[in-house]
Amino acid sequence: MRVPNFVTVLGVRLCMTAEGLFTLYQIPAAVFSAKGASLKEKFGTAFQEPLTQRLALRFLRAFLPNSPVTSKRLIKSYPNTGTALVTRYEDVVEVLDRNADFEVVYEPKMRAITAGENFFLGMQDTSLYQRDVSNMRLATRRDDVSAIVEPLARRLAEKLVAEKSGRIDMPPELSQLVPAAIVTDYFGVTGAPDSDLIEWATLMFRYLFADLSGNPELERDALNAAAACCSVIDRDIANRKASGETKDDVIGRCLVMQAAGLPGMDDVSIRNNLVGLVIGAIPTISRAAVQALEQLLDRPLVLASAEQAALDGNDKLFAAHVFEALRFNPINPIIFRRATRDTTIAAGSFRARRIPKDTMVLASNLSAMFDPLKIESPESFRTDRPWGDYMLWGYGLHGCFGAYINRAVLPAILKPLVTKPGLRRAAGEAGQIKTDGTQFPTHFVLDWGYTKGHSD
Ligand code: HEM
Repeated sequence: MRVPNFVTVLGVRLCMTAEGLFTLYQIPAAVFSAKGASLKEKFGTAFQEPLTQRLALRFLRAFLPNSPVTSKRLIKSYPNTGTALVTRYEDVVEVLDRNADFEVVYEPKMRAITAGENFFLGMQDTSLYQRDVSNMRLATRRDDVSAIVEPLARRLAEKLVAEKSGRIDMPPELSQLVPAAIVTDYFGVTGAPDSDLIEWATLMFRYLFADLSGNPELERDALNAAAACCSVIDRDIANRKASGETKDDVIGRCLVMQAAGLPGMDDVSIRNNLVGLVIGAIPTISRAAVQALEQLLDRPLVLASAEQAALDGNDKLFAAHVFEALRFNPINPIIFRRATRDTTIAAGSFRARRIPKDTMVLASNLSAMFDPLKIESPESFRTDRPWGDYMLWGYGLHGCFGAYINRAVLPAILKPLVTKPGLRRAAGEAGQIKTDGTQFPTHFVLDWGYTKGHSD
């Protein structure tokens, strides 16, 4: 057994080196062929593309898996003294597992959003963290996913697509509406129209996780959105209590827990927990659905195979297509943590890297999912991967609270679309994903059906 293993590992490492070297040709080619008037612009456009990001990460995994720490602060919106990038699966997992050495940094912005208390994603591994997560797990049960959330998402997605005849603008007409319905019908946040919930959640999400530069205008807009969202949830809670209405949704269950005297279930704490879930749910699910579909559309044979799986009623296989598609462009290519002390990543190996206290460590989940030392044939589109190969929504202590919701809802959103015969991007600009400066898909027009002369 040992000899073949040694040969395999050697082969994988040689391939990594050869493929890493080849990126020295592929990356400049991608930059020169990108849109832009200057080299700087071309560079910027090229690195928006997941393919170029993956090429750069491939180079790093081969030659510089744990980058030297630079004093350049890539993330300026949270205090830190410099940046390090971690690209191998094993080391990404190490960073995300060592919570005492690599901390979540979101607390100040979480407190700004709630105008007071922290939310559990902004907490270290404390008793308060465990209390709040446990409370919310009691209120959002795993069984709800198959009993409530998936049927809700599936019925709504089917209805929204059925109402369209041959064309849909996916974010505003489908992928934002489904998570918004989860927020209203399942969480019980009913006091605002969907359009407000979508706008508020997206602004708050960008402020917390996507605004690397610390944009003051975004901060102002996000905090206004936070105040509006918090007061709507406050009102929802107050109305429930005043009317005596008992409803088996997340707010309803939180109020039952409050009545039973559970710590951390006063009105403001319930609201803070809910605002965190609203932020986590809406823009993420919409963007992930759009990005997964785009990857499918870019691979016509894979799209046909996904369609066939859906038509055959093979939901597991259809979902495997969706998650594999998302692996090629997950909504976040990195997860960031700050070092709490001087420490070392991958200690005892040739790639060991000393990390000074207060360095922001970018653990690349995108890179981890393409690391050939862990993932078999990472560049191939495969639907038979073990679930453990995926790092689509975080890892470890702070791994996504909505993980099981995501696994059910993303395929539910995409299935009625993918089964439309001849599904394709609309012609021209409309068929490209637009973000209107929000970093989240605002428009992505799709067509289906065959017109005369269309021969597919
Ligand atoms: C496809 C959709 C989603 C994606 C891509 C996604 C992504 C992520 C990621 C990457 C993290 C880890 C952040 C970190 O470690 O710094 C995370 C955590 C979290 N997500 Fe999601 N998420 C999605 C959907 C949801 C949904 C539907 C909810 C609400 C039900 C949600 C609520 C949360 C919460 C509360 C956390 C913090 C968990 C903790 O601190 O223990 N997310 N998510």
